[in-house]
Amino acid sequence: MKLYVGLIFVVMAILGNELEGCHCKIVQFIFGDSLSDVGNNKLLSKSLAQASLPWYGIDFGNGLPNGRFSNGRTVADIIGDSMGLPRPPAFLDPSLTEDVILENGVNYASGGGGILNETGSYFIQRFSLYKQIELFQGTQVLIRNKIGKKAADEFFQGARYVVALGSNDFINNYLMPVYSDSWTYNDQTFVGYLMATLRDQLKLLHSLGARQLMVFGLGPMGCIPLQRVLSLSGNCQQKTNNLAKSFNKATNKLVEELSTQLPNSSYKFGDAYDVVDDVISNPGKYGFENADSPCCSFGTIRPALTCVPASRLCKDRSKYVFWDEYHPSDKASELIANELIKKFGFVRVDQTNAPSPAPGLAPSPED
Ligand SMILES: *[C@@H]1O[C@H](CO)[C@@H](O)[C@H](O)[C@H]1NC(C)=O
Ligand SMILES: *[C@@H]1O[C@H](CO)[C@@H](O)[C@H](O)[C@H]1NC(C)=O
Repeated sequence: MKLYVGLIFVVMAILGNELEGCHCKIVQFIFGDSLSDVGNNKLLSKSLAQASLPWYGIDFGNGLPNGRFSNGRTVADIIGDSMGLPRPPAFLDPSLTEDVILENGVNYASGGGGILNETGSYFIQRFSLYKQIELFQGTQVLIRNKIGKKAADEFFQGARYVVALGSNDFINNYLMPVYSDSWTYNDQTFVGYLMATLRDQLKLLHSLGARQLMVFGLGPMGCIPLQRVLSLSGNCQQKTNNLAKSFNKATNKLVEELSTQLPNSSYKFGDAYDVVDDVISNPGKYGFENADSPCCSFGTIRPALTCVPASRLCKDRSKYVFWDEYHPSDKASELIANELIKKFGFVRVDQTNAPSPAPGLAPSPED
């Protein structure tokens, strides 16, 4: 009976394709930085922001580095899983074909990337948000050529979009005196500049078909181990935290405004600032033992900037909030994702119109 229903379904899907455009799967297109990168920078050979060496990926799949700047999953991995969506492969993944895109979507996120083009320039190679959108436009051409314009429009309008950038615009731009933005703007005008840019980018994505889109806010980035070690007291940098709060407040307002302005759009904003702030003040309450230093560090040398094979790992990775100087551990990502899931209030995506099971190329849930 099950097989029979399945067969009818496939036949209907095939007929449907011919009669009325796309019976496409719902997939995700992810735009982001190192917090969402799943392998783009690993394939940008000149990039200085890389997660290509052990012990990155130690708690993911086969334990080898996969390009994620984490020991395990990213926040976007966990949120997508909970929605029942496939994990999109990195844009630069050599196995990315039109069929893979139609089944899984694409992840354009790139470590060091920002909302602003100039952000993270000292990493040499990274995809800024504008560059990522440009690559997405290339993806759209491929898909249109493959399934036709009408079906492609349906596919892209039915997809889910994630935009998760902003920390590098502060940490690897505004707060670094080597960047001209640091002396051109003050706190308020810099956030204004970011908002004007992000507004154009979100409108551009809408014009390209994005209808259901989530924007992730920033955490208390003044409390990442790197920022603490740069403050003489070892405390969180309040100025940096205040910037994250202003960014979140302004982005929330922008996203609400766009969601009412842009036709048929459901744009949502969510941040996990408060819960992460609480974890950092009361780690024990959440089952953590350490909330101020990286699990992976190079002896006593701090900041270690990146996790390398010669680094030493903490004894229990699930007890550390931070995996390296910048990035949350798998366990902390789970906590952040659960908070965002609560805020976005979404339910699982119903994939009943998917014509076939995902092929072998689909990323497997490896956690
Ligand atoms: C940003 O970079 C994109 C290319 O990725 C370019 O098209 C755009 O003009 C740049 N914008 C600014 C303000 O420099
Ligand atoms: C909005 O949705 C309606 C109904 O589905 C459709 O006719 C219209 O073209 C859509 N507009 C845009 C801009 O997507």
